[in-house]
Amino acid sequence: MNFIKVKTYEELSKIAADIIGEVIVNKPDCVLGLATGSSPVGTYKKLAEKCAKGELDFSKVRTVNLDEYLGLSPENDQSYRYFMNDNLFDHVNIDKANTHVPGGTGDPDEECKKYDAIIESMGGIDLQLLGIGRNGHIGFNEPAETFSEGTHVVELTESTIEANSCFFASKDEVPTKAITMGIGSIMNAKKVLLVANGPYKKDIIEAAVKGEITPMVPASILQKHPDVTVIYSEE
Ligand code: F6R
Repeated sequence: MNFIKVKTYEELSKIAADIIGEVIVNKPDCVLGLATGSSPVGTYKKLAEKCAKGELDFSKVRTVNLDEYLGLSPENDQSYRYFMNDNLFDHVNIDKANTHVPGGTGDPDEECKKYDAIIESMGGIDLQLLGIGRNGHIGFNEPAETFSEGTHVVELTESTIEANSCFFASKDEVPTKAITMGIGSIMNAKKVLLVANGPYKKDIIEAAVKGEITPMVPASILQKHPDVTVIYSEE
């Protein structure tokens, strides 16, 4: 595991965008696994800047996002589809038909099957970008008895609902369920890049990279992945 500690969120975002940019340059039709939340926002900004400068071409890039809240339509401004359009897709020359986010409003079991089929049909993920929840979740794979495999529906924990309530008008509006890519699919990605910032992520990052490998800290499974980079800034 390659652990990079930096001072500022700006540095974190630059390094992450450089790593993703290199994957796109080396494989213009690469499959990027993408995350939402506050951590990757700066990375997406940097990627959009590189695209505007002509340093990156997203025209053949394909993407699969980690997760989506159940019950939110793509038009809902709290949905992860909306977030991705707003933070990245609307600012780069990507073909939106090549971008995938789990469906939050269809039949959940059908959506899960459909999503795993999409990932398989793309030939797997070249680089998976991750954030980390305060409880160690990756995607919306919450602490559990076992590591999950494919896309599935999850009940969000109180800690996640609390953490994500800052994006909603009130905590009551945070959906209690989500659909998430499984740990198995994340581990199948050729390369994993995890970005985390803020002092409140310090302990969980330490537990994930150095602690016991346990489904109670879902990110700890990454210790078994052959190509993981973690970038952490205390800012
Ligand atoms: C979102 C996702 C989550 C977040 C995590 C951290 O797509 O997969 O695992 O990465 O909840 O969120 P932030 O970055 O807001 O602290």
